[in-house]
Amino acid sequence: MRITSSIYLVGGTTYGLTNGNDSHIYLIKGPSGIFLIDAGNGYDTEGLLRNIRDEGFDPLDINHILITHHHTDHARGAKALKDALGCEVWISDNTGKHLLEEGTDEELGVNYAKEHGMYSRDYVYIHCPVDHGIKDGESFTIAGIEITTINVIGHSDDSTCFLMHLDGRKCLFSGDIVYAGGIIGLLNYPMSSLEGYHEGLPKLKNLDIDALFPGHRMFTLSSGQGVIDAGLKHLDGIFVPPSVGQRIENI
Ligand SMILES: [Fe+2]
Repeated sequence: MRITSSIYLVGGTTYGLTNGNDSHIYLIKGPSGIFLIDAGNGYDTEGLLRNIRDEGFDPLDINHILITHHHTDHARGAKALKDALGCEVWISDNTGKHLLEEGTDEELGVNYAKEHGMYSRDYVYIHCPVDHGIKDGESFTIAGIEITTINVIGHSDDSTCFLMHLDGRKCLFSGDIVYAGGIIGLLNYPMSSLEGYHEGLPKLKNLDIDALFPGHRMFTLSSGQGVIDAGLKHLDGIFVPPSVGQRIENI
């Protein structure tokens, strides 16, 4: 699905592009190549590759996959793609590299997910060698496009936003941090926390983002900063009793 001349949605279950509860998988076309943002769950890699071909691209031209975070719907498919395409896989150095390469079921939250009926009992996370652990604030050029990263904790410690200019727009690929309507990705799941959100999400203030591309739900080509600001407002609206864990005086 062509979004703009440089941005394509080539995988994801929301719009029925691929099966297997995949996150959105974006293909970015730069002046000197193509790359993917996120890899999906890996249950429908063939469907993903077919979509890429249908858009007129050769999947073998993909040299990099940037993973927003290690969660199964974004990262489990990385190994199959790396094996098929010989591409590099990059993910945050802040826990993501370790988790994708060798995280235990406990560290990955797989045990928790099975115990709470979120994953089937026979679910297996697929690890993948990581070619580069991305640092917070790191800048690099891929396919001729300058990209800056922002590590935003709250949804997971490794959640990374990729900031780049495409087709005259300031674009942010934001994973599961904030969705349309300012919905934040706070989970009852290991590594996700309200405290983390209060620390992480303000890093996305005042970026003047035009186009926001989350890992699920709707994307927008304009007023992306408004979505982020709505998320910040929702966060401020979440009441955390200051007395928790403290002795209450003067009542
Ligand atoms: Fe996630």
